[in-house]
Amino acid sequence: MSGLKNDLLLRALLREPVPRTPVWIMRQAGRYLPEYRAVREKAGDFMSLCRSPELACEVTLQPLRRYRLDAAILFSDILTVPDAMGLGLYFETGEGPRFERPLKTGSDIRKLAVPDVAAKLGYVFDAVRTVRRELDGSVPLIGFAGSPWTVATYMVEGGSSREFKTIKGLADNDPAALSTLLDLIAATTIEYLNAQIDAGAQAIMIFDTWGAALEAENYRRFSLASMQIIVDGLTRERDGRRVPVILFTKGAGALLTDMAGTGCDALGVDWTTDLSTARKYVDDRVALQGNLDPATLLESPDKIRQGVAEVLESYGSGPGHVFNLGHGITPDIDPDNVTILVDAVHELSPAYK
Ligand code: CP3
Repeated sequence: MSGLKNDLLLRALLREPVPRTPVWIMRQAGRYLPEYRAVREKAGDFMSLCRSPELACEVTLQPLRRYRLDAAILFSDILTVPDAMGLGLYFETGEGPRFERPLKTGSDIRKLAVPDVAAKLGYVFDAVRTVRRELDGSVPLIGFAGSPWTVATYMVEGGSSREFKTIKGLADNDPAALSTLLDLIAATTIEYLNAQIDAGAQAIMIFDTWGAALEAENYRRFSLASMQIIVDGLTRERDGRRVPVILFTKGAGALLTDMAGTGCDALGVDWTTDLSTARKYVDDRVALQGNLDPATLLESPDKIRQGVAEVLESYGSGPGHVFNLGHGITPDIDPDNVTILVDAVHELSPAYK
């Protein structure tokens, strides 16, 4: 099972030389694909889709049938972890994720415990094994989790938030309770990701979508410190190969410098920081993944090719670049525009190697 036909992603994440830049797309399995919408309808709701290893495997593979991608990412969600902690995750159509039992007070937090990960999240590990079997060594499989801070925002706010008033109030008024919560999520996430690695995940990505909502000092204290705990606890080698770890804080900017010091292998970069600048921030200590603005995919084929060329040019020559969007692909994208993007990376990137 360890012999990979295409290991460009794993090599680029370790800053090893590759003949072209590998490419995958955040949220590559999702609502912009009609075949995803069909399976999602068959499953009934989003969590039933995540809980069925066969259906989760099917939607994981769908984008790979259409596009020359260099990685699969497990179809699941970052909020499976608080669901396993007993908060009761559900999705309201058009409203995003919600919890039946959000954490309202410090005493709600103090009642939480690390769940039995094997029992509560076994469906995720079954999906990983199913996907690995079906991929049959064609490309590596990325496993993932949310950062403790980002997951905590949903647990405390009860769903998606713009201003994070409740959790920022907790940070100011009961920082000990917030730290307890973050430590608990970090401990659960270590078990969760190591079980994904045991089941066959070959690289790991941690999504910190909301870390940059914090001021820099609190970012380091609450978001980065809890990601550091996870990086320190992860299995870093499996079947004789390193399992690269990618951290992604959307909007990190100059904080990329701090992130590069965690011992991770790579950093995701959103489109608000040029890769040439990001490269200076990290001083070539880690690989970089990104960072085309997802909105570019709404434009003409020429504009998309130009956008790809600019991202490649901004990274420049040398190893350590994985092509991606700067954040997830949105449901309004024409699937044919993704073909244009992926083909442009294949065509233009060898010149930078
Ligand atoms: O990238 C992939 O293809 C793998 C699957 C994946 C999903 N969610 C599937 C999903 C991954 C990696 C995630 C991560 C995730 N989930 C994040 C961090 C990454 C990011 O984009 O910032 C966050 C914040 C979540 C929480 C979450 N899950 C939200 C806010 C929503 C609603 C989004 C929306 O646009 O309505 C979800 C649901 C979700 N997760 C969908 C998908 C494909 C859409 C659900 C549907 O089919 O109705």
